[in-house]
Amino acid sequence: MKDVEVTTPELADRYLMQVGRRLPVTFVRGQGCLVYDEAGREYLDLVAGIAVNLLGHSHPDVVAAVAKQAGQLIHTSNLYFTQPQVGLARRLVELSFPSRVFFCNSGAEANEAAIKLARKWGTRHRDGAFEIITTTGSFHGRTLAAVTAGGQHKYSDPFKPLPEGFVHVAYNDVEAIESATSARTVAVMLEPVMGEIGVIPAEPGYLKRVRQWCDQHNLLLILDEVQTGLGRTGRWFAHQHAGITPDVMTLAKGLGGGLPIGACLANPRADVFEPGDHGSTFGGNPLACAAAATVLDVIERDGLVGHAAEMGELLHSSLQDLGAKQVRGVGLMQAFEFEGARAKPFQQACLEAGLIVNAVDEHSVRLVPPLILTAQQIDRAHGIMRKAAG
Ligand SMILES: Cc1ncc(COP(=O)(O)O)c(C=O)c1O
Repeated sequence: MKDVEVTTPELADRYLMQVGRRLPVTFVRGQGCLVYDEAGREYLDLVAGIAVNLLGHSHPDVVAAVAKQAGQLIHTSNLYFTQPQVGLARRLVELSFPSRVFFCNSGAEANEAAIKLARKWGTRHRDGAFEIITTTGSFHGRTLAAVTAGGQHKYSDPFKPLPEGFVHVAYNDVEAIESATSARTVAVMLEPVMGEIGVIPAEPGYLKRVRQWCDQHNLLLILDEVQTGLGRTGRWFAHQHAGITPDVMTLAKGLGGGLPIGACLANPRADVFEPGDHGSTFGGNPLACAAAATVLDVIERDGLVGHAAEMGELLHSSLQDLGAKQVRGVGLMQAFEFEGARAKPFQQACLEAGLIVNAVDEHSVRLVPPLILTAQQIDRAHGIMRKAAG
């Protein structure tokens, strides 16, 4: 392949489908929480590839694991067993709850698997019930079923007709779930903290009450932990804060340390897939699984779950003096909301000053940094944000 020596917005416009707006910067390398552009400028990265790079950029252990696995076996398909895949499944189950794992390549695919699983479960165990209750403002990915499950019209309306079987209710409102439940309902699907809409945490007691409702009415509880999972909120999984266990949990983002991998875990009650029901050519291939196993090892070895809780508190308090009307979040998943439409200019000012933050809309800024973020880096980020906030 010929190298494209200089990347310009014009070249990108010409050759890439225009599915989203990009910020005017081209990154060429990264190390830890720092990333560098074509001109060698350094940026402190509080977005981490949208909550992906839990160990920062190019963590040496991930680089070594990927290099080793790449030299040994990259891909086989799922017609055969591979040790990295079975080993990773075992690790995930041991870290979470008794379950089995389906591997795929992204969060949307993990949710797609969860939706199919729920529908099959409904056929088997709830007289053909198929409706899934999800929440307004939620985000579950961009496949047709996932945008329909997600509660944001801007992502689904252009693609009508949408698959049937999704009912949206307000987040943090158990009564709304109760009223929406009918004989057609098969599952409730939630994010423990709504991420993409701007970090809206579940209120205390919400997840527990939804769990009880699902138990009383023989519904599956599906938790989308694609963004909240794997230490991000200061626990391995966000549902652990609420002292509950889902029937089905989806993971992706941080799992592969930057390599694409997703996972859908289901407990024995929900695990109704049989050979032929579902599949993926690349899902859980040895390369992605070797990277993911290393991510889990390093999180554990370096105590990064506790570190994320500690740094999360520090980050949260450092955001209090930016003139935002609200600061919200759990662990290293934080956001703040300006009164006026200031988020995009703020993001641009931070970028120009060497700090990466994520304006999720006109008002709110999201921070989902690597779990290895240090107190000094929070200080540095705070200085830049103070100036950008004016
Ligand atoms: C909670 C949640 N679920 C699903 C997804 C979709 O993941 P992916 O982009 O890997 O398909 C995202 C991505 O932002 C997410 O935040």
